[in-house]
Amino acid sequence: MSSLSKRPAGAVVGRSLRHESAALHVTGRACFTDDLVPRTKDVLHAWPVQAPHAHALLSRLDTRAARDVPGVVHVLTGEDVPGVGDSGDSDDEPLFPTEVCFHGQAVCWVLADSLEAARRGAAAVRVDYEPLPAILTLPEAIAAGSFQGAQPTLRRGDVEAGLARSAHVLDGELEMAGQEHFYLETHAALATVEDDGTVLVQSSTQHPSETQAVVARVLGRPRHEVTVQCLRMGGGFGGKEMQPHGYAAVAALGAIRTGRPVRVRLTRSQDLTMTGKRHGFHARWRVGLDDEGRLQALEATLTSDGGWSLDLSQPVLTRALCHVDNAYWIPDVRVTGRIARTHKTSQTAFRGFGGPQGMLVVEDILGRCAPLLGLEPHELRRRNFYQDGQTTPYGQEITQAGRLHRAWDQVTRTAGLDRRRAEIAQFNATHEHRQRAVAITPVKFGISFNLTAFNQAGALVHVYADGSVLVNHGGTEMGQGLHTKMLQVAATALGVAPDTVRIAPTRTDKVPNTSATAASSGSDLNGAAVKDACEQIRDRLAQVAAQRLGVPAADVRFRDGVVSGLGTGTTVPWAEVVAAAYVARTHLSAAGFYRTEGLHWSSTVMQGSPFKYFAHGVAATEVEVDGFTGAYRTRRVDIVHDVGDSLSPLVDLGQIEGAFAQGAGWLTLEDLRWDTGDGEHRGRLATASASTYKLPSIAELPPVVHVALLEHAHEEGAVYGSKAVGEPPLMLAISVREALRQACAAFGPEGTVVELPSPATPEAVFWALQAARAGHGGGIEGGDGPPPPEADPEAPERRPQTETLLHQLGEG
Ligand code: MTE
Ligand code: MOS
Repeated sequence: MSSLSKRPAGAVVGRSLRHESAALHVTGRACFTDDLVPRTKDVLHAWPVQAPHAHALLSRLDTRAARDVPGVVHVLTGEDVPGVGDSGDSDDEPLFPTEVCFHGQAVCWVLADSLEAARRGAAAVRVDYEPLPAILTLPEAIAAGSFQGAQPTLRRGDVEAGLARSAHVLDGELEMAGQEHFYLETHAALATVEDDGTVLVQSSTQHPSETQAVVARVLGRPRHEVTVQCLRMGGGFGGKEMQPHGYAAVAALGAIRTGRPVRVRLTRSQDLTMTGKRHGFHARWRVGLDDEGRLQALEATLTSDGGWSLDLSQPVLTRALCHVDNAYWIPDVRVTGRIARTHKTSQTAFRGFGGPQGMLVVEDILGRCAPLLGLEPHELRRRNFYQDGQTTPYGQEITQAGRLHRAWDQVTRTAGLDRRRAEIAQFNATHEHRQRAVAITPVKFGISFNLTAFNQAGALVHVYADGSVLVNHGGTEMGQGLHTKMLQVAATALGVAPDTVRIAPTRTDKVPNTSATAASSGSDLNGAAVKDACEQIRDRLAQVAAQRLGVPAADVRFRDGVVSGLGTGTTVPWAEVVAAAYVARTHLSAAGFYRTEGLHWSSTVMQGSPFKYFAHGVAATEVEVDGFTGAYRTRRVDIVHDVGDSLSPLVDLGQIEGAFAQGAGWLTLEDLRWDTGDGEHRGRLATASASTYKLPSIAELPPVVHVALLEHAHEEGAVYGSKAVGEPPLMLAISVREALRQACAAFGPEGTVVELPSPATPEAVFWALQAARAGHGGGIEGGDGPPPPEADPEAPERRPQTETLLHQLGEG
């Protein structure tokens, strides 16, 4: 009836509603999965037996002593599995492994009347291991040729020719660390067997349908016998896209085996040591630029650290490859990706899904090349921006380049960058031991799942005879405000007040075959499905209202809970129309569906048009670095971000600020460390608590944060003209890292090239500025010599000081 993106007068979308669960969150009444435990009778608690080796064969598993511990009811092992004992989707994640593949992997689970009894039972399980050599770091994996999954290559044009015609050819390497999700709510599942023998699993999952599929496969049951519900999550950030399935399966298996409800809730240290994280990446690159600094060619190999199993490593790698261009036109490209197999947790989705890692490669390249070319970094970046009509290396046409230019110019203007650059130069000239810098970086992020099939969603909307509305949709709420937006979409489509609508928890028996709430596409996909369902009901109601109003159905309008006829003064309250429709035997429930049209993608040739559109953003960040310690402060950030016509401006603002902070954490503070020494703790996660893993807090955020939503940003063909917002702003934080690089360079002579490790912790910044002072900030080699050899496994670890310290702590 109406186009997907058109906004009716009086729309509830576009208003700044508060988060639908705000009051529940702040009063503590919001129910999360594990809060259901006290309300459930006879719950058994599950505790894992975690292996103390990174790689070992299980030679004996003896559970007898555990069963003698008071309160222990059962020990779940592989023998309990009626179906397929695997929680991955590549058959590479045995639930009860006979070969341990990472330090802390669960080999069996003890079920007991209390958590304490389960813990004591787990301690009593006798396991014998035959330790095997373990591969831990990316250089080790590369040297050993330890890879898993496909090794795709993204190519366009002729890289050799591109490099040959370049005035400057530079090469280098970058290794970037992963990131721990550190959602406040750890992984949790609660399974019960219903009276008819079917299984209900409450799970903290971003992907209820896949959790259902894995549980059903483990139990050897059809999916209609397994229902998964997700009330809400205390954060997911990608960490609950694939990783919840195994825990849900353990709970379900326990419930089937014992007939009692079973609860799995990881402690923080279990969550940290057992679940996957953002992929660390290694990149080796060669880049060619012309005399004006225009990119000509990029050749690179990106190697991600996948950990022990594939999980989502392949799609994460695809997204990384599809974002190495970020916002820049590069005529000739050849980028190969591969996934290392290491004896670590299985790395997984994390906000940006490989996009941040891909983008960091090109931003690092530009940050390092600018001084060599004698150009300001902002000038070099701006010169290379895409223009409309150009295509990405995977063949998608660029149509909104102007938005990026606009956002860039707006930030430059509103942040007063020209003036502040002069002020900073003044400051730096008069402060020997403190240096400042401001850096501006762009983000262009593709929206849609690369895999076309995932770009679909469903909804189920009921209008009750009293006029109240209940909405089920396929998306999950993890704090991002999806339910708030869906409520606004339903209220807009039906023309009712927001408090007429309630959003029900996400359940697989309400909306089947859903995609993960991921790729920032939750509101695009589910919003369109909710809108479709609401419009079906509204059109039926219009027939009823038309008779009462004496107008054709096409002239009936729904707005603010009032139904009116165009050109008549008469109105009827919404509830009255609904009541009349009920009496007239009108169907007041509808299933909505949406699939994104026009997408295509081939993962074999890495070509297509996988994204519905791109989200854009620009950030300028100013930092100050202390020359004695490398300690730094972020003084100010200015952001302009493209969210289309926002569905919910306050929610979007929260997403932009939160994502920026999380990105800054990844790039500057959060420092995942595994024990890579040869001692008995080899492979143990050394940063297994909040005391050793530094998270960004309010104190690290800049005192001045200006966020503006890009104006005139209507997105044709997306729900009510809006754009996805969940992930793209994370990459705005690359501006923090680039500002740190520039501030370090300011300690050295003009034109100093600074190589920064990632994360750029104060310690790393200290060594970088020391190198700058000594006049040898960078190892970038000019000229077009042969590419450097593969990483040398004998080469010293980066940041040896801390490495040694941790090592000593680990041994001690
Ligand atoms: N915001 C909060 N508060 N908590 C989260 O867990 N996850 C992020 C982002 N914003 C997350 C969040 C990630 S990784 C994604 S993909 C999107 O939200 C998913 O939700 P959406 O598709 O509804 O934007
Ligand atoms: Mo987000 S990483 O796509 O869950």
